[in-house]
Amino acid sequence: MTESATSATKDLITLNDGHAIPQLGLGVWELTPEEAYTSTRAAIAAGVRHIDTAAGYGNEANVGRAVADAVAEGEVTRDELFITTKLWNADQGYDEALAALDTSLSNLGLDHVDLWLIHWPVQPWGRYVDTWKAFVAAREAGKARSIGVSNFFPEVLDEIIEATGVTPAVNQIEIHPGFSQQAQRRDNADRGIRTESWSPLGRGLFDNPVIAGIAAEHGVSPAQVIIRWHLAQGLIVFPRSKNPERVAQNADVDGFRLTREQIDAITAIDDDPQYAGRVGGDPRTAVFGTPLA
Ligand SMILES: NC(=O)c1ccc[n+]([C@@H]2O[C@H](COP(=O)([O-])OP(=O)(O)OC[C@H]3O[C@@H](n4cnc5c(N)ncnc54)[C@H](OP(=O)(O)O)[C@@H]3O)[C@@H](O)[C@H]2O)c1
Repeated sequence: MTESATSATKDLITLNDGHAIPQLGLGVWELTPEEAYTSTRAAIAAGVRHIDTAAGYGNEANVGRAVADAVAEGEVTRDELFITTKLWNADQGYDEALAALDTSLSNLGLDHVDLWLIHWPVQPWGRYVDTWKAFVAAREAGKARSIGVSNFFPEVLDEIIEATGVTPAVNQIEIHPGFSQQAQRRDNADRGIRTESWSPLGRGLFDNPVIAGIAAEHGVSPAQVIIRWHLAQGLIVFPRSKNPERVAQNADVDGFRLTREQIDAITAIDDDPQYAGRVGGDPRTAVFGTPLA
């Protein structure tokens, strides 16, 4: 993908269903409801139009309140915003998923979300195929404009696509310097699925000498360098911060571009044992939550 000269918060990526998603957004995992409100307002004020929440984050209602207040104050229209939420694992299953979407929409105060994701496959429970069928139905009902998955790997992608003939629009997976996930990204691209990066800033990377050196060269922060690394590779990215100034800083990444050599040097952190590896659970083995009876 060629980087445009426009604002990263306004750059759109077209998904396989024809809908467009702003490439740079705000993530709200681990934010308290009040922090989620403040950060969402700060993000919208900074020009961010894409918010990534989840039923499991416990802050959908305050993201929704922030959206409603920003719309009521004339800062933005609902149609300009792109709101993602995710189905929590415990709600997997056909009927359960559809009921959970209604709860999410009620929490958010919206009649539809722009993107709804299966949060984790939780392969041992064996519910992800029925769950995906519910996602297809929700899209047909207009309650989710686009549907996708998170933390899916090739075998479970094969199963849901074969069962429905519907390919997810996105797969949201852990990606940051030190864990660039080339193989799953290629698998997604081969299927026409766009990749979203979760935990994009990783952990402990701000002091990494490669990243700190590139940040000093450009006169920007290490976080801004990492965000540019994601954008330069066509990844959809939504850094999280509870601090309104850092929310604005993370949206302010238009004044510089990484060179090919700088992008490659950051990707090569995958080979540095001090910084390489996951910061979150392995989707093949992680089981979060309790299945319904
Ligand atoms: N699908 C999944 O399974 C999954 C899993 C994890 C995350 N996600 C999504 O991905 C989003 C982002 O990932 P994440 O929340 O794990 O974390 P992240 O965005 O990679 O990093 C957040 C951390 O970086 C700090 N930070 C942010 N901007 C900074 C800046 N400019 N300078 C210095 N420090 C900065 C934040 O601290 P302060 O708050 O103090 O600024 C926070 O500690 C989530 O919020 C969520 O939407 C999805």
